[in-house]
Amino acid sequence: MARIGQLKLLATLLWALFLVLPSAALAEDKTGEYDIAIDLATMLQSARSIIGENQDLINDPTIGDKGLTAEVVRARALEKFTVAKGGTQPDLSGGDLRSRLLKAQIEAISKVITEHQGTINQPGVAFKGFVPAVFARLVNEEFKQAMGEEAEVKVTAPPELIRNRKARPDDWEVEAIRNDLSAPGWEKGAIFSAEAANRGRPAFRVLVPEYYGQGCLACHGAPKGELDVTGYPKEGGNLGDLGGVISVTLYRN
Ligand code: HEC
Repeated sequence: MARIGQLKLLATLLWALFLVLPSAALAEDKTGEYDIAIDLATMLQSARSIIGENQDLINDPTIGDKGLTAEVVRARALEKFTVAKGGTQPDLSGGDLRSRLLKAQIEAISKVITEHQGTINQPGVAFKGFVPAVFARLVNEEFKQAMGEEAEVKVTAPPELIRNRKARPDDWEVEAIRNDLSAPGWEKGAIFSAEAANRGRPAFRVLVPEYYGQGCLACHGAPKGELDVTGYPKEGGNLGDLGGVISVTLYRN
C-alpha cells in the first residue's frame, strides 16, 4: 500500500513538473527583460538622488567649484546602484543588452553633469534650476539619443500633474497609471509591467511608481497654485500621493 502511495506521489510530482516547466521557461525570459528595466530605473534613481543630496551645495552662491564632477557623480551612482542591488555591481563591459544599456545610461549621466559644470559652479547665484527632476529628464533625453532604437527611460506623471510638456504620458501610460497604479486595490510600490506597443513598435514596458515624500512637497505640495522655487505652480499634493512613474520601454524588434 505504501508503495502504491509513493508511486502515486511520484506520478503527481512528474505531472506537476510537466505543467510547471514550460511556463517557468517563459517566465524566465520575461524576468530578463523585467530585470533590465528595473536596473535602468534603479540607476536613474541612484544618480538623481545624488543631485538631491547635493542640492544645498549646488544652490550655495558662496561656493564656486563644487567638486561635483562627472567622475564623482558616476562613482557615487554606481555605489548607490550596487547597494540597491544588494551588493551586485553592474557589468558595464559586456555585450549583452543589460550591459550596453547600463553603460549608455552611465555615459548619459556623465555627459549631463559635464555639460552643466558651468551652471553647477556658477558663483553668486543661489538657485540655478538644476534640480533632480531636470537632471533626470536631461539624462533620459541623452539616453534616448544613444539607445532609442532599443530602449527608452522617461519620468512621467498623471496628466493633471505634468509640469514639462516633454514628460507627458502617452495613452498607454495614462491608462496604466489611472486603471492600475492608482486603483484602490493596487499595492503601494508595486511595479506595473506589460507587453505593449510604444511609438507603434512592440515592446516590454515597465512603470515604477514614485510617491511624494516630505521633501517633494516644498514644490509639489500645498497650497495648490502657489509658485514653487522653480517657478512652477504647486500641485497641492499630499504625503504619499502617487507623484509620477519611471517609465521604461524595451523595444522588441
Ligand atoms: C525644487 C522643487 C522640486 C522638488 C523638491 C521636487 N520636484 Fe518634481 N519637479 C520639479 C520640476 C521643476 C519639474 C519639471 C522638470 C523638468 O523641467 O522636466 C519636476 C518634475 C517632476 C516629475 C516629472 C513629470 C513632470 O511633471 O514634468 C515628477 C514625477 C516629479 N517631479 C516628482 C517629484 C517627486 C516624487 C519629488 C520628491 C522625491 C519631487 N518631484 C521633488 C520640481 C521639484
